[in-house]
Amino acid sequence: MAEITCTNLSLHFGPTAAVDDISLSVPSGAFFALLGPSGSGKTSLLRLLAGLERPTHGKITLGERTVAASGTFVEPGARNLGMVFQSYALWPHMTVAANVAFGLEMQQIDKAARTVRVAEALKTVGLGHLGHRKPHELSGGQRQRVALARALAVRPALILLDEPLANLDAHLRQTMLAEFRRIHRETGATFVFVTHDQNEAMAVATHVGVMNDGRLEQIAAPDTLFDRPATPMVARFIGHGRTLPVICRADGMVDLPHGTLRLQGHAGPGPAWLCLRPRDVAVAENGPIRGRVVDRRLENGLSMLSILPEGLGDVALDVPHPQALPVGAMVHLHVRSGWLLPREGAAVWDDHRIAALA
Ligand SMILES: Nc1ncnc2c1ncn2[C@@H]1O[C@H](COP(=O)(O)OP(=O)(O)OP(=O)(O)O)[C@@H](O)[C@H]1O
Ligand SMILES: [Mg+2]
Repeated sequence: MAEITCTNLSLHFGPTAAVDDISLSVPSGAFFALLGPSGSGKTSLLRLLAGLERPTHGKITLGERTVAASGTFVEPGARNLGMVFQSYALWPHMTVAANVAFGLEMQQIDKAARTVRVAEALKTVGLGHLGHRKPHELSGGQRQRVALARALAVRPALILLDEPLANLDAHLRQTMLAEFRRIHRETGATFVFVTHDQNEAMAVATHVGVMNDGRLEQIAAPDTLFDRPATPMVARFIGHGRTLPVICRADGMVDLPHGTLRLQGHAGPGPAWLCLRPRDVAVAENGPIRGRVVDRRLENGLSMLSILPEGLGDVALDVPHPQALPVGAMVHLHVRSGWLLPREGAAVWDDHRIAALA
């Protein structure tokens, strides 16, 4: 049974389509991460799921229940979900414990059970000792964790998190991510998690959706997004990807300025994008791409070169290389692997992984 199903879902604000004809299906118990540039519609999609916005068009089903469709609208309080939003709203006059208990009171859970659940939820987020404080007596990160505890306390089937780690330091983010994984495992709830941090998404998600301009470009398992991006936007957005304009020949070869590559699958013929990540290329004696070193930097202690390929537009490739080659040096690049996408309306292809010609 799919836990979340959206069918042709749109949300318009005047001329802006914040969510533009999205159809998706996420199974029960998934950890669904939503990625995309600022303004791409992530929060708007979450607000639609939460019932804080009514769709302009389309339908949302949670579990067996249609919660939004033409003529149907289930109020947020009746959707059995918990939310932690970018701007977490805590009641300033209530203690931390009272804030966490608030949703439970709404559900008319009796006092003894409430006390147990509040203590449990605060312990889960590492704030067991701060239940008596008021929100203004907490740091930003602690306030965010109170908001998470409040969402968890009602034990919802669906938890919506909009950048819940944005205000936390790097160490606490890692700890909280591990906590999310644990809470996800233990509760069996479906999580929808909006983040700007791809590593964060890849670390915890079972499904990742990439949004752009209100549309869903692709929804897939994390490694599929890396290995088989469905659109040039996804290829560029995920993991330092670069796309180079190339031509695919009818005989299964791809022409590059200084050589050819052989296709493993079926593609083209016609204009294509060759999608390359740092792991796909290496500096070599010979290779089908020749380029100039335009920059060198250290990334996590490894030397990374920026290399501008000749005759392939103005996009520099990031290439890991141990040697400190000087800026301006000319090098060849060997292509170990890669991925092709049709360019300018070419027909859709089945399988288009490429490998270097032996
Ligand atoms: N209440 C509103 N009225 C008008 N336009 C809105 C409203 N809410 C959002 N938008 C517009 O809808 C688009 C999507 O916004 P949304 O907040 O969903 O983006 P986002 O992906 O969450 O961005 P960010 O990563 O910056 O949080 C943007 O162009 C935004 O300006
Ligand atoms: Mg947002």
